[in-house]
Amino acid sequence: MEGSGVHVSVPVRLPSPHTQPGVGHLGRWGTGPLDLLEEGASLGPVFGLRLWRKAIVGYSPEWNAFVLGNLQVFRSRGSMSGLSPYLGAGVIALDEPGHRPRRRTLNPAFTHAAVRDLGPRITEIVESSLPSGTFNAVSWASAVVRTILGEVFFAGLVPGGILRSFLRPLDGRMPAPLLRRPVLFGRTNHALRRAIDLAPERALGSIFAGLDDGVAEARVALAAGYDTTAHSLAWLLFHLADPAGRPESAIAHVADEVLRLYPAGWIGSRRAAYDTSFQGIDIPGGTLVLYSPYLTHRSPQLWPDPLRFLPQRFEQAAPAFGYIPFAAGERTCLGRALARLILACAGNAFANAGLSRVSGDPRPRAGLTLVPAEPLLLHRRG
Ligand code: HEM
Repeated sequence: MEGSGVHVSVPVRLPSPHTQPGVGHLGRWGTGPLDLLEEGASLGPVFGLRLWRKAIVGYSPEWNAFVLGNLQVFRSRGSMSGLSPYLGAGVIALDEPGHRPRRRTLNPAFTHAAVRDLGPRITEIVESSLPSGTFNAVSWASAVVRTILGEVFFAGLVPGGILRSFLRPLDGRMPAPLLRRPVLFGRTNHALRRAIDLAPERALGSIFAGLDDGVAEARVALAAGYDTTAHSLAWLLFHLADPAGRPESAIAHVADEVLRLYPAGWIGSRRAAYDTSFQGIDIPGGTLVLYSPYLTHRSPQLWPDPLRFLPQRFEQAAPAFGYIPFAAGERTCLGRALARLILACAGNAFANAGLSRVSGDPRPRAGLTLVPAEPLLLHRRG
């Protein structure tokens, strides 16, 4: 129709990975979502899935900017986070018009400048918990991150046993993190209420005191910050123990590369509130719309030799919307500066610690977050 001024849109048919009879992609999503995503990515930059509802997945920087840049169309309500009681509350469950004011309240406590002063305390906790001999990196990192979060949020006012029982299901395989646990949550809420009320001003948790749903917000921050940071830390230690040559790069770049290859938030989801379209692809209202840091970070179009662990690639700026371990835009991770601080403090504490690998394969497996598929066993002299 060139020259006539009339545009005829031609519907684009989305490619889709192979399905199983009767269940669409749901079975494969349950047993091997990373393989399913990789098959989809090999078919095109945007592909369709038949999960419990129709889903569209993309991983190009343009797609990421499109999905993460429009909170009016792409809503949290009805997305995957609502499937887990650990994530379906607080700021994660809010959409406009409530989300923006809540982030305005919370953001100032979580900026890089605001959390920086927590560094010495975090280092102290790591140094007093350094393992000696052979240890399992995920178990060690999970315990130390639990202690750090309990300390920086609540000045240690939440009993360790409660914190452990609350967070333990996040260590388990699916469906453990999806199950409702009213008694456990009730007990945790009670302890959090008390800790928020008593928390000194220097504790991050004091920010929740003025909110009517402060307990839910505190619970969500703990849950969102726990296994994500712990698993990233385990991979960081595994790479610091690399026998083929310790990474020479600054710890911040080693952490960048860990977050590229193993982005704990491997999939992000929204629900389209209205009909919309992307590069000629119709997205009907109600569709589940997915972005995938895992696919974006392993895309050879964006990252040369994507499967190699090369921290020095971060000596140059990462491609815009091509590096999104903490998502981007207004819904970007609230705890990203804190997570980076924990990784840097812990990484530095191990830098000259005589760390070596015993066994393990760093390849990830997807649960609620990414986790090493096999135990990562490390050894520390000392
Ligand atoms: C390495 C560690 C971490 C990674 C990789 C990570 C990753 C992410 C990602 C990808 C999102 C966006 C999810 C979405 O699109 O729905 C997110 C959101 C969020 N994260 Fe993190 N996170 C980490 C640590 C933390 C920590 C320590 C906290 C503690 C405060 C935290 C709190 C949150 C919250 C509250 C949100 C929801 C923000 C909103 O919806 O406005 N995260 N995180």
